[in-house]
Formats: sequence, C-alpha cells, structure tokens
Amino acid sequence: MPPKRKAPTTDEDDDEYRKKRDRNNQAVKRSRVKSKQRTEETQQTVNDLRVKNKVLEDKIKHQTKDLKFLKELFLAQAQAKSDKLVGVNLAELLKSSDEETDEADNKESSRKKCSSGSGRSAGSRRKAGTSKIDLYEFDPIPVLEEKEHIPFKGATVTLDADPRKAAARFYEIVNDRRSVRSFSTRPIDSTVVEKCIHAAGCSPSGAHTEPWTFCLVSDQNIKEQIREIIEAEEFVNYQQRMSKQWTTDLKPLRTNHVKQYLSDAPCLVLIFKQTYGFKADGSKKQHYYNEISTSIAVGILLCALQAAGLSSLVTTPLNCGPALRSLLGRPTNEKLLVLLPIGYAAEDCTVPDLKRKPIDRILVKY
Ligand SMILES: Cc1cc2nc3c(=O)[nH]c(=O)nc-3n(C[C@H](O)[C@H](O)[C@H](O)COP(=O)(O)O)c2cc1C
Repeated sequence: MPPKRKAPTTDEDDDEYRKKRDRNNQAVKRSRVKSKQRTEETQQTVNDLRVKNKVLEDKIKHQTKDLKFLKELFLAQAQAKSDKLVGVNLAELLKSSDEETDEADNKESSRKKCSSGSGRSAGSRRKAGTSKIDLYEFDPIPVLEEKEHIPFKGATVTLDADPRKAAARFYEIVNDRRSVRSFSTRPIDSTVVEKCIHAAGCSPSGAHTEPWTFCLVSDQNIKEQIREIIEAEEFVNYQQRMSKQWTTDLKPLRTNHVKQYLSDAPCLVLIFKQTYGFKADGSKKQHYYNEISTSIAVGILLCALQAAGLSSLVTTPLNCGPALRSLLGRPTNEKLLVLLPIGYAAEDCTVPDLKRKPIDRILVKY
C-alpha cells in the first residue's frame, strides 16, 4: 500500500516525501521484475519436468517389454526343466507382472491406434515367427498320452526305387509350382483337395500338438464375402498401412487390392494356427511352435496340391484375420496364418519370369 500523503509543510518536507515515493516506486518495480523472473523459472521447471517424465515413460515402456521377453524366456526354460520345479507355481509367481505388461501393451496399442488413425502398425506388432508363451499351471501328466515305442523301418513309400531318381522327380514336381493369381472357374474335385489337406495333417508339430485348422470353402456366397472383406482391407493396406518400400517391392508382381481370384478359384483354404488348445477337462493346452508347425503343414499342402495337378497362391491378407475368423465361426485361439485360393490356372494366366537361386547359393556344405 502506498504511504498516505501528508499535507506538505516545508520545502524540506516536500523533498523528503518525493525521495520516499521514488524509493517506493523502485522497490515495486524490482519486486515486479523478480516476480516475472520467478514465473518464468517455474514455467521452465515445469517444461523440464515434462520432458523428463516423457523420457521416464519411454524407459518404463522399453523395460516392460524387456521384462516380458525375459519372463517368456524364463518360462520356456522352466517348462523344459519342469521336473525340477515341482511345487513351484510359475503361473502364480509371474501373474501380476504379466497382467501389467499385457495391460501396458493394450494401452500402448490403443494409444497408437488413436494417434495414427489407422489400425495396427507393422512396427508395433510382435515380430513374425515369435510366439507368446502363455502361463499355464504345471501339470505333471503329459498331454500326449504315454505310448509304446514301436519299430520303424524308415521311409518306404518313395517316388522311385532309385533314391536319386526319386529326389529328382520330387524336384521336378515342386520346381513346376508357381504362384497363380488368375484362376479358371473350372470346377475341381474337392475330394482331391481334402486328400491334400489330409497329407498336410501328416506334418510334424511341436510336441505333436498338431496346432492347425484347415477351412475348405467351396460355397460361392462365402467366397464372395471373403473377397469383400479382403478387398476392403487391402485397399487401406495399399493406400496407408504398407510402407512405400513395400508397395515398391511388390510392383514387379503386379498385385493390388483387387482380388478376382478369391471369387474365381473354385475353392479357398484358410489355414489357422491354434495358438493354444484344450485338454479333455477344458483347461488350456500349450501349443509349442504353433506358427512354425502350421507353416510346415502349409508347405506340405502346397507340394501335395502341386503333385495333384492343382495350382494355388499363398496369401497373407493383412488385418483380415479377425473378420475372416468370425465369418467362418472359428474360436479365438485360432489365428489366420494364410489363405490359399486353389484350382486351375486361367487360360490366359501369366506369371513373372522369376528365377530361383541356384543350389550353390542356398546350400553350404561342411
Ligand atoms: C509367406 C508368404 C506370403 C505371401 N503373401 C502373398 C500375398 O499376400 N499376395 C500374393 O499375391 N502373393 C503372396 N505370396 C506369394 C509370393 O509373392 C510368391 O511366392 C513369390 O513371388 C515367388 O513366386 P512363386 O511362388 O511363383 O515361386 C506370399 C508368399 C509367401 C511365402
């Protein structure tokens, strides 16, 4: 509050009053400058803290991911040595942190979805080929029934009695395979495809879990619905989700979002990997290496189809898995791995004149 002005008496008094007022004004000015400085300093501190907070958040995110990876590694090791861990409840031991990391992952992915405006980004997803090892209660009884071990003579059914001729014949068959993107509508005998799927089911699998489901679609109406789902997603894939490099690398194959072959090919086979299975009592059963196992089965299916004179195309429709799974009424433990249109190549079908690597570029002998 400014000092109350007294009635001036003498010149001396007047002078004294002016000096006091000036001193007062100077003090107010200094106080204002100081206050402004303090506000700026506080603002700077807030900004610095915000930056530090962001750095810490990123660090937590990365450490959470590292922790999750280490935990999966630990679990894989622990499962392998489960006989030495009797009495240790691994699921309970790692429960809370697992829930947290899952939640963090979900939050992170929904944040990314919101900020990008599009669906899953390729970078935010788990790397192809790595599978999540879920938490299961240790069960001392193996899922696979104990069986007698029986004598085995080795491979007896071959393409030729002479192993060189047999191997050469098989090479001829598979070397004749090409990815076909233009199919004839000519009908096929679906029992032939069924037998080929039967052959694919002979594939080896992690701990003999046979983690695959083959859906054979011959119904034209369902094929059209599948085409509709895939073309809508592929339009977005080509426009937004796939990187410029990816679409550039695909140019020589002349692919785009239009998938005429999905309705032309007489049948489609959708192959699902089962990320886990169920025991007789309904509890979850681990499916080790389910993706590798199912991929090997797909390889056998491709060979079988080729040997039976049918053509196909391996397709991996990005972002279509859940919609196709629900269209076919498949359960949530099944994830779409690949979709194969199967049939005969159209009369005017062409393929890029690709060359395969020679044997000396793929084989290293020791
Ligand atoms: C894992 C995998 C995914 C593929 N995805 C697609 C696809 O989505 N669309 C497509 O037209 N071709 C796809 N292909 C086919 C490849 O483009 C094709 O195999 C490659 O160009 C070699 O040609 P070839 O099969 O005639 O030897 C895929 C192949 C593999 C093995």
